[in-house]
Amino acid sequence: MARDWVIVVAAGSGRRFGGAKQYAPLGGRRVLDWSLDAARAGGRGVVLVVAPTEVGRPEPAADVVVAGGATRSGSVRAGLAAVPADAPRIVVHDAARPFAPPELFDAVLAAVAGGADGAVPGLPVADTIKQVDAAGRVVHTPARASLVAVQTPQAFRAAALRDAHARAAEGTDDAQLVEAAGGTVVVVPGRADNRKLTEADDLAWAESRLAGRASARTATGAAR
Ligand code: CTP
Ligand code: MG
Repeated sequence: MARDWVIVVAAGSGRRFGGAKQYAPLGGRRVLDWSLDAARAGGRGVVLVVAPTEVGRPEPAADVVVAGGATRSGSVRAGLAAVPADAPRIVVHDAARPFAPPELFDAVLAAVAGGADGAVPGLPVADTIKQVDAAGRVVHTPARASLVAVQTPQAFRAAALRDAHARAAEGTDDAQLVEAAGGTVVVVPGRADNRKLTEADDLAWAESRLAGRASARTATGAAR
């Protein structure tokens, strides 16, 4: 049977971070390497989307490397063009989320295999969220219980994702485009540690999380 594919988007410039965060060192390898490992687990195919200047860099963990676009949606479209036509399902994942476990890819893919057009990991929000206008005036306060903060990996029926992107639409995630095209998107439980590295401080948090994991392992080993 044809395999599922993952598009790992890594063509951003990391303006808020202060550089291309996907290549920053984390635990002795690059942020990107953690994301690629989780993406390719289970035999999934991987298209890595990088900035045009990085296309020549060897990336043995990816099946295909392509140049991205000026926007995240443009980069996803560049990746989509390289996914084999027979892929039944396609996942999109941010390279900047190094702690998404392979099981989260499995969970969103299972929800799509179960009949949804798309599936995204989501977490309840802690803050009250306001919708504001250009002048900063609050126009609406959605009920907090109805809100989720969504992450990647986001999985889709391949045709649903391709159709949504064929409209050359722009969005901050892919589910938004599939929803706008009339698709059904479901939410599966996200993970608190599946944070997107956005600001420079987030890298220190990621290092401390890895260090915490390592000391937990050492403690377990010592107890045996
Ligand atoms: N991305 C991409 N192509 C773009 C913009 C973003 O592939 N033109 C990727 C980033 O590399 C990242 C993911 O999309 O893995 C999520 O985007 P974001 O966190 O916004 O990263 P950047 O756009 O690089 O950061 P910033 O918005 O601060 O510049
Ligand atoms: Mg961005």
